[in-house]
Amino acid sequence: MMLKKNRATLFVLFVLLLFGLFLLGEASAHGGATGVVKERMELMKSMGDQMKKMGAMVKGKETFDAASIAVSAQEIKQAAPEITHLFPEGSSHNPSEALPRIWEERGRFDELTEKMILEAGKLSDLAIEEDRRSIVVQFTKLGKTCSACHTDFRKKQEE
Ligand code: HEC
Repeated sequence: MMLKKNRATLFVLFVLLLFGLFLLGEASAHGGATGVVKERMELMKSMGDQMKKMGAMVKGKETFDAASIAVSAQEIKQAAPEITHLFPEGSSHNPSEALPRIWEERGRFDELTEKMILEAGKLSDLAIEEDRRSIVVQFTKLGKTCSACHTDFRKKQEE
């Protein structure tokens, strides 16, 4: 009886250990980021994935699909307003790449977010009209709003 109970306890501990390791693996996928830092990294990463998807089409590596571009641009437009809430004052601790300048120039940081939302919306609208040339031009404009903010408010990347 006693032995059985111990075995059950061991089993539960073992399962918890495995689950713990799993969670650890999840966290390290984002360099150990937690909380709001992890959330915004994930948000940025999903916007990055949308940009890659559109970029492949714009560069002709994938079949050009205006409807799919419209959807990707729309996703960026809808996700972006979250940025405003995901950078609380002073949240630039390791492993975050956010620069303290964000909170010194908060107005400009928020303006850049607004600009990105505007350009993403324009791209989404244009893509519905399916004029490839203007889609490419607008895609480039949207990409510039990403890098404009990264240049000033994100630590320099190694690559
Ligand atoms: C208003 C400023 C701003 C705008 C606009 C912006 N970003 Fe970012 N982005 C940041 C900051 C700051 C970080 C660093 C966040 C951190 O590490 O805490 C970041 C990080 C990232 C990362 C790295 C995420 C990770 O896992 O570490 C990617 C990818 C990214 N952004 C893509 C994009 C794309 C694509 C766009 C445009 C569609 C964009 N960003 C627009 C400020 C911005």
